[in-house]
Amino acid sequence: MITFGIMTLTMESESSYINEIARLAESYEMEVFRFIPSNINPHTLLVKGKKFDFKSNFWKDIELPIPAIIYDRCFYGDDEHSKQCLPIVSWLKSRNDITFLGYGLPNKLELYNTLKNTALSSYLPSSQSVSDPGIVLNKLNVMKKIILKPTNGSQGYGIYYVKKNEKTFHVKTEKQKKTISRIFPNEAKLIKWLKPLLKQRGYLLQPYLELSNNEQQPFDIRILLQKNEHGVWGERGRGIRTGSTGGILSNLSAGGSIITFSEWLSSLPPTKGEYIHQELEYILSKLPNILEKEFMPLFEIGVDIGVAKNGSIWILDINSKPGRKVVLHTRPYLQNTLYLAPLLYGKYLSQMEQMERKNIYEKTLSH
Ligand SMILES: Nc1ncnc2c1ncn2[C@@H]1O[C@H](COP(=O)(O)OP(=O)(O)O)[C@@H](O)[C@H]1O
Ligand SMILES: [Mg+2]
Repeated sequence: MITFGIMTLTMESESSYINEIARLAESYEMEVFRFIPSNINPHTLLVKGKKFDFKSNFWKDIELPIPAIIYDRCFYGDDEHSKQCLPIVSWLKSRNDITFLGYGLPNKLELYNTLKNTALSSYLPSSQSVSDPGIVLNKLNVMKKIILKPTNGSQGYGIYYVKKNEKTFHVKTEKQKKTISRIFPNEAKLIKWLKPLLKQRGYLLQPYLELSNNEQQPFDIRILLQKNEHGVWGERGRGIRTGSTGGILSNLSAGGSIITFSEWLSSLPPTKGEYIHQELEYILSKLPNILEKEFMPLFEIGVDIGVAKNGSIWILDINSKPGRKVVLHTRPYLQNTLYLAPLLYGKYLSQMEQMERKNIYEKTLSH
């Protein structure tokens, strides 16, 4: 039996996904053990967690050695527990006797700085790190509309749209699925608001792209790519996420809805549709290999692609711990395939020469 480790920050995270994986494991001569990184005993290298018991269909408390194969589903925040777990996970990733399904991607700024020197550079919205409100004002003078997003952010959290009018400034954000709009009467007031925001955490500035449909709803294309049981990349599915009218985010966590890619494509003029299709094929054929060459091995990625009103196509975001909602919604018959995928890839990895895999990718670690 291969022990397939699933690592999360709490024992409740993603329970339905993890339960489904655990149930399927037995038929593949695997057993699933879920644990939290901070429960590793640094002296004994044993970890307290829960193993799925096939007979009773329940998770049982058990202490085991750290599994040799780990599926990392830790989502970090600014909290103490995240800060405690991060270095433990970095240490796990550096161990030669442990193989992660995927080693994660760096933050948005590092991703941008690396990808801008690759074949995909023309698809990246220009991004710069900003800590000085003066720079934001300069950019607003030139571009009029910008987006500010946390360098380490995800799920649409802390993203701001800022527009310069003649004298005033319009700021929009989304919180708890609602759009919040605010007007600052002058530069001084905007600076007063920007200062603590930019101080609190790292922010990126991007030009605001017109990524909304005719109903003024922001939308993007979300694509899930995974490796199969032979370690070969493939697409599992794609769908269109649409946000609320007048909003700025299409993230599902911000209340977005989903339609199929083909439904959306059929609403476009055929030549435009064909163009987008071809651009996507190009991006998706290059992206996984470029990422693995520049960073570390991966198992899956979720790619957010924006299509602007002028037809230009943008890689907005790449997630190494993607959700499955879009694919489950647009291709519900793929449920089992999605739950099996981590197990099959884990099995493939455990059969590979693990040392060889690590030596190829002697790179600095990131989460
Ligand atoms: N430069 C931009 N211009 C317009 N809209 C954007 C821009 N960047 C992001 N968005 C919108 O915000 C959403 C979230 O941005 P993203 O970079 O994916 O951050 P997160 O990691 O929080 O998901 C995108 O899906 C898109 O709808
Ligand atoms: Mg995103």
